[in-house]
Amino acid sequence: MEWCVSMPKIELHAHLNGSIRDSTLMELAKELGDKGAIDFSAVEHVILKNDRALNEVFKLFDLIHILTTDHKTVTRITKEVIEDFAADNVVYLELRTTPKKNESKGMSKHSYIEAVLEGIRSVDSVDVDLFDRPSADISVNSNFEDCLCNGTGKKKIYVRLLLSIDRRETAEAAMETVELALGMRDLGVVGIDLSGNPLVGEWLTLLAALEYAKKQGLQITLHCGEVPNPDEIQAMLDFFPRRIGHACCFEDDELKLLKKLRIPVEICLTSNIRTETIASADVHHFADLYKSNHPVILCTDDTGVFSTSLSAEYALASSTFGIGKREMFELSEKAIDFIFACDRVKGELKTIFASALGKFNL
Ligand code: IMP
Ligand code: ZN
Repeated sequence: MEWCVSMPKIELHAHLNGSIRDSTLMELAKELGDKGAIDFSAVEHVILKNDRALNEVFKLFDLIHILTTDHKTVTRITKEVIEDFAADNVVYLELRTTPKKNESKGMSKHSYIEAVLEGIRSVDSVDVDLFDRPSADISVNSNFEDCLCNGTGKKKIYVRLLLSIDRRETAEAAMETVELALGMRDLGVVGIDLSGNPLVGEWLTLLAALEYAKKQGLQITLHCGEVPNPDEIQAMLDFFPRRIGHACCFEDDELKLLKKLRIPVEICLTSNIRTETIASADVHHFADLYKSNHPVILCTDDTGVFSTSLSAEYALASSTFGIGKREMFELSEKAIDFIFACDRVKGELKTIFASALGKFNL
C-alpha cells in the first residue's frame, strides 16, 4: 500500500459529490441538523452505513446533494477533494460532477460550475494546472521531484473537469449541460460523462445531447453495463465513446465487441464490490481485460462513499491478481494515453512517469 501511495497515479473516474471527506459530510449534516433543516440522527445512520446495494447508493447521493448543494459548500468540497487526491500522489485528475440547479440557493447549472472552478482556484497547498495550452508556454523539467513540485516546493496536480448528465434528466436538461460544457472549454472543461442510477432513464432521451457534444469535439465517457441491459450496452458501444465506466454486466458477445472496438474501460473495483455489482474482487472482469491487453484504467468512482483511494485500488488489484510493482507502474502510466487533456499535458505526464521510473529503480 505504501508503495502504491508513492507511485504517481492518474484518476479518470471520480465523482465530486462521491469523493467528499466523511468528516466534512458529518460536519455539514450536523450543521443542518442544528438548524432543524434535517433530522441528524437519521442522516448519521445513513452516512455511517457502509454496505449499500446499488439502489441504496443513489438514495445516499440524494441525501449528499441536500447537504452540499450551495455555492460555498460546492467550493469547499472541490478544494478538499483535489487536496486529497494530490496527497495520494495523483498527478492528473479528471473530476466529474453533475451541474445542478437549486433555486432556493440562487444556483443555476452555470453558477454551480463556477463554484467548482472557485474551489479549484482556492487550492493553495498544491499547484493546479487547469488549462489546455500549447507546450511553448512552459518548460518541461526532466527531474521527477521538480515536475511534481513545480520547483516551488509544492506538489503539482493537473485537473480537468467533465460535466455529468444524470440519467434522470430530460433531453433539454442534458442539452443545457452540453452547452454549458462547450461554453467552459477554456476553463478546464474537457468532456461529458453520462451517469446516475442505471435503473432509471432511457438512452434514447439523452442521445441527441451526447451526439451534439461529440460533434462539437467534447470527449465523452459513458457509465455502461452497470446492470444487465443488452439493448443499451449495444447502443452505447455503437455510439463509440472515448471511454466507458464499469462494463460489469457484459454478455460474451458484448465483451467481444468491446474488445474489438478497443474502448478503454475505467475500472472501479471497490465500488463494484460494495454495490454488489460484482460478487468479489477475484471474479472481477478486470482480470480478463488486463490479461487480454485491453485498455483499462484503475479508478475510484467515489472515494468518500466507498471509503477508498486510488492507492487502495492499486493495492487491491495487486494483491488480488498478483500484479507486480513494475506492471502496476506500467498500468498507471498507460492511463496517460486515455486522458482527455491536450498533448502538452500528455507529454509532461510522460516526463513525470519517466523520471519516477528512474527514481523507483524497478
Ligand atoms: P456529483 O455529480 O458530483 O453530484 O456526484 C454524485 C453523482 O455521480 C451521483 O448523483 C450519480 O449521478 C453519479 N454517480 C456516482 N457514482 C455512481 C455510480 O457508481 N454509478 C452511476 N452514477 C454514479
Ligand atoms: Zn461512476
